[in-house]
Amino acid sequence: MDRLGEIRKVVSAELVAFQQEYTATMQGGTGWLQDCLDFLTKKQGKQIRPLLTLLSAKACSGHVVTPQTVQCAVFLEILHTASLVHDDVIDGTRRRRGNPTLNVAFDNRLAVLTGDYLLSSIVSRAADLDDRRIVRVLAGLGRDLAEGEVAELELADNGTINEAVYMQVIRKKTASLLSACAELGSLSGGGTESERETLRDFGKHLGYCFQIRDDIFDYYDAEIGKPTGHDLLEGKITLPLLFALSQGASAEIDTARHIILSKDFTEENVKSLIDFAKRAGGITYAEQVMDEHFRAANNLLGTLPPSPAAQALKKLSAYLVVRNH
Ligand code: FPP
Ligand code: MG
Repeated sequence: MDRLGEIRKVVSAELVAFQQEYTATMQGGTGWLQDCLDFLTKKQGKQIRPLLTLLSAKACSGHVVTPQTVQCAVFLEILHTASLVHDDVIDGTRRRRGNPTLNVAFDNRLAVLTGDYLLSSIVSRAADLDDRRIVRVLAGLGRDLAEGEVAELELADNGTINEAVYMQVIRKKTASLLSACAELGSLSGGGTESERETLRDFGKHLGYCFQIRDDIFDYYDAEIGKPTGHDLLEGKITLPLLFALSQGASAEIDTARHIILSKDFTEENVKSLIDFAKRAGGITYAEQVMDEHFRAANNLLGTLPPSPAAQALKKLSAYLVVRNH
């Protein structure tokens, strides 16, 4: 069994319930809208986020996954899907996970409206659960994602080269989502206040690991369903290059800065920026930062009561750090 398969086993029945609830929630539209929902339902990913929500509920002292937990996992997966649908419109992305994106299979108008519909549907369903805390986490997450996305566009446009600002963006854009998954797992599973805080922070550190790993992929040719150097082509300067640019002064740094500030992202220039970041130790540095967050995440897990679910969360964090796609 693969590593993810072993982790899934710990919540296998709950994942079946998740899948049923997810499929049912993606029904209810009519005509073109339902065509778009069906298209998205067929293109599900590895279900990392539902796994995180279900395992977080089970890792709390009550060790239960409630019907609310399954609902929260569905809300978060759908909010994530809606954000990617919108992101693909913003980035003009044509392929995701090896398949055409919704904006290509249909068009931008339908992609924007399907994302809007999904977001509104989950907020409405969350309101029916009569727990304001759940609505608050979901609404705060939507706001963080949008703020992170706008900040990223702004930085790319300004050619901002600043590690602290980059870390703020990935906290909003990615860490906020995994943090909300773990927090809502704990909240819906009846975790104590301290378990809820622990899992929220655990998810946040996991999110940093996830995004930094994703950023590192952009420096390699691995088949991950998008071309290498994609971030740079969009003007997004991530950790490996930020590190390389902060290493004193040199003609190489001046050239790299010039390319970034003049937004001269030709294929040849992107290749030279990637080579420069690698030579200057940018990948090693990014891996070190990722490792710090990985250790922080694992230390937090160590404070939860020992259980197969807590063990599975540990395996999930290791999987996210070493994954190769
Ligand atoms: C992927 O980033 C995108 C996100 C992590 C968040 C996108 C958020 C929004 C569009 C705003 C909020 C939307 C809603 C519905 C609340 P990426 O472009 O770096 O990654 P990629 O390579 O997978 O596209
Ligand atoms: Mg994108």
